[in-house]
Amino acid sequence: MRDIELIAHAREMTRRSYAPYSGYRVGAALLGVNGKVYTGCNIESASYGATICAERAAIANAFRDGCQKFIRAAVISDKNEICTPCGICRQMLYEFSEHLMILCCSADGKVVEYSIEELLPHGFGNDNMK
Ligand code: THU
Repeated sequence: MRDIELIAHAREMTRRSYAPYSGYRVGAALLGVNGKVYTGCNIESASYGATICAERAAIANAFRDGCQKFIRAAVISDKNEICTPCGICRQMLYEFSEHLMILCCSADGKVVEYSIEELLPHGFGNDNMK
C-alpha cells in the first residue's frame, strides 16, 4: 500500500470523529502485518478523560480482526498543523509495533515521517519486565 493511500484512509476518518469539546478532529490508519488497513477516529466524552484517541480506536479495531502488529501508521487532523500522536498513543503503538513508521500529516498535505523509537525513545515495554 502506498503512503498516499494510507493517509487517505486516515483523512477519511476525520469526518467520523466526534470532537465537540476540542473541535480537533483526528483520523488514524494502521497498516497491519497482514496487509490490511485499520482505521479509527477520536471519540470525545463530556467526561473529558474518557476520550479515546484516533490511534487507540484504530488499534482496538485491529484487535477485533485478530491483528496485533503494525508496519506503518498515518495520523492526521482537520487542521493545517502536523498531527503527532499523544504520549498515551505513543506508548500503545510501541507495545504492538517494533520499528513502526508513523506518517504525521496535516490537512493541507504536509507529511513528516517518524519511527516509533524517535517519538518514544527508551520506551518502556514488555521486555523491561523480563
Ligand atoms: N487526539 C487524538 O485523537 N490523537 C492524538 O494523538 C492527539 C490527540 C485527540 C484527542 C482529543 O479528542 C483531541 O485530539 C484533542 O486533544
